[in-house]
Amino acid sequence: MLDVRLFDIDRASDTDWDELHELQFSAYQADSPERPAFTRQETISTLRAPQVQAGEQLVWTAHRDGRLVARAIVNLPGDGNERVAAVRIHVHPRVRRQGIGTELLHALEPKLRERGRTLVEGWNLTLGGPGESWALGLGFRIVHTAILQIMRLDEVDRRRWDAPVPGGYRLVRWIGAAPDDLVEEYAKARGAIADAPLGESGLAEPQWSADRVRRIEAACRERDIEHRAVVAVGPGGAVAGLTVMEARPLMPERLQQGDTAVLAGHRGHGLGLAMKSEMLRWFTADRPGAEQVWTATGAGNTHMIEVNHRLGFATVRTGSVVNREL
Ligand SMILES: CC(C)(COP(=O)(O)OP(=O)(O)OC[C@H]1O[C@@H](n2cnc3c(N)ncnc32)[C@H](O)[C@@H]1OP(=O)(O)O)[C@@H](O)C(=O)NCCC(=O)NCCS
Repeated sequence: MLDVRLFDIDRASDTDWDELHELQFSAYQADSPERPAFTRQETISTLRAPQVQAGEQLVWTAHRDGRLVARAIVNLPGDGNERVAAVRIHVHPRVRRQGIGTELLHALEPKLRERGRTLVEGWNLTLGGPGESWALGLGFRIVHTAILQIMRLDEVDRRRWDAPVPGGYRLVRWIGAAPDDLVEEYAKARGAIADAPLGESGLAEPQWSADRVRRIEAACRERDIEHRAVVAVGPGGAVAGLTVMEARPLMPERLQQGDTAVLAGHRGHGLGLAMKSEMLRWFTADRPGAEQVWTATGAGNTHMIEVNHRLGFATVRTGSVVNREL
């Protein structure tokens, strides 16, 4: 029998963090060796300051004979995605193929149903790896493929970020909070990310509103996540596109690229490249300790992938997305 408990982030002792970190480090080493090794700071940062857009985050640990053998991170997104639970289960490589992953998933199912979730979705499974075999055996379907790209700031030629701003547009940028006179327009423009391919993922692009923008900004402040935006303002004063990037607490070495979107009527002029270039110049100038920029996108999103390659990102990993009705 597994002992499955909620991990109490506020009360966790050094030993709890050590144990959790050792599990994550070992699992990622086994499953994603191409990715930079998991650090203890990353373990703490991603739990204490979870990605705001993914919604409420809960962490369960599974113990056998007093030892930690698996953990599940569950995100419960809102704003139109109340049906979905995004689940990340990792079993310690030492104890795989003993039924632990399956038992942990089954232990979570009633808890997710209690919260009104009817679809379980898993991201970033190694192609052809144990996660896929496990999930397919449990009735999941492969619904999408996503890639992870990383830019190494010590290696990149920063002249790649010299992209000019196309005529008729100007860039506006901010840290933490959109200016009041742009927030409505900005929220509307954020909805353009809905055109990014998500395959048959159960996650729909959330319904954007000025209220959602303000809630996300406030949650970032609470979690000490530095959130920056660069937007392109078009001829009539309307927001034509945007890009966002974040720096998380405890992880000064990494910048995380968030959404980038250009509204349909403004595509093909180089706005994506210009906004992302501006963001990279600005954020890295203020953060000399940053070593890498990370970004994730759909494997079929060829335009975004191409823009990222031009900026100096390299594709590091491809992972699948699976889901199943509860
Ligand atoms: C996927 C994972 C959670 C499975 O955990 P586990 O405790 O080893 O899995 P179980 O023992 O419950 O496996 C149940 C069945 O899944 C299938 N399966 C699991 N691992 C497999 C593998 N490496 N190759 C082929 N089939 C596999 C088998 O059918 C297995 O039954 P069997 O051992 O009787 O043949 C674990 O490998 C892991 O942590 N992987 C990395 C993260 C990940 O991909 N998570 C899943 C997405 S959230």
